[in-house]
Amino acid sequence: MTRPYADLLDLAVGAAAEAAELVLRMRTEGVDVAGEKSSPTDIVTRADHAAEDLLRTRLLSARPDDGFLGEEGDDLPGTSGLRWVVDPIDGTVNYLYGHRAYAVCVAVEQVDHDGADGTDGAGRVVAAVVHAPALGEVYTATLGGGAYCNGEPIAVRDVVPMEQRLIGTGFNYVREVRLAQAGYVARLLERVRDVRRGGSAALDLCSVAAGRLDGYAEEGTHPWDDAAAGLVAAEAGAEVAIWTSPAGNRLTVAAPKGDFSGFADVLAESGFVGNTAGNTSVH
Ligand code: IPD
Repeated sequence: MTRPYADLLDLAVGAAAEAAELVLRMRTEGVDVAGEKSSPTDIVTRADHAAEDLLRTRLLSARPDDGFLGEEGDDLPGTSGLRWVVDPIDGTVNYLYGHRAYAVCVAVEQVDHDGADGTDGAGRVVAAVVHAPALGEVYTATLGGGAYCNGEPIAVRDVVPMEQRLIGTGFNYVREVRLAQAGYVARLLERVRDVRRGGSAALDLCSVAAGRLDGYAEEGTHPWDDAAAGLVAAEAGAEVAIWTSPAGNRLTVAAPKGDFSGFADVLAESGFVGNTAGNTSVH
């Protein structure tokens, strides 16, 4: 039986494995902070740059007509209708400190695809891998093909009452944004079992996919944080949406489809969600 998007997934898995091996090896040689981004605490390491270079070279030498967007600065247009979206190390601060929750993320999206139902499929991720080398976990997904961890199918948790839900979130590197986030999270804490801050948005989404979290919401994400892991979560039974925070920042939300709307209501009541006009569900 033909597996849809199998060639793209195989290419993504192979490139991510090489990049993961590289970042793991570079960590044993000592981590060099190569620069700062949105604030002094938002850092990039030499390994982020080396892994993005490796991913760009591997993916575009196999498919030279595709576009390529990377966290560390690459934004190359393509002509094939496909674009790779990569985060060479999601969880760079964890990587710096030796916490194991960091991952190489590779997604490939259709940028100018007309869906079979006539809808515009622009930006639809069709194959994805999140490779966490220090955890020994490789999450994969293809559109319509399910989600897997190390080759085993994964699924979201059954829905439990709100007060029993464990929710993942993250804090932005910009002071004003994180102060606002502290306010939303304080209100959320009154409503749920507890909150986790894992340090990798991609692995938080994979935790929703694998049933280790009941939901995830974070303000200030970027497409490379959630492109790959968003498909993993969606294929495992989550609804994944990109909304807007009250400050107008990008907000990623994921929860099992069984009660996504209940989670969305609690997020709105906690203050996470801004203007809902134009909000989109991406997976
Ligand atoms: C960051 C991590 C972190 C999240 C930040 C992201 P990076 O990505 O995913 O958990 O809170 O919003 O920017 O910088 O380590 O690739």
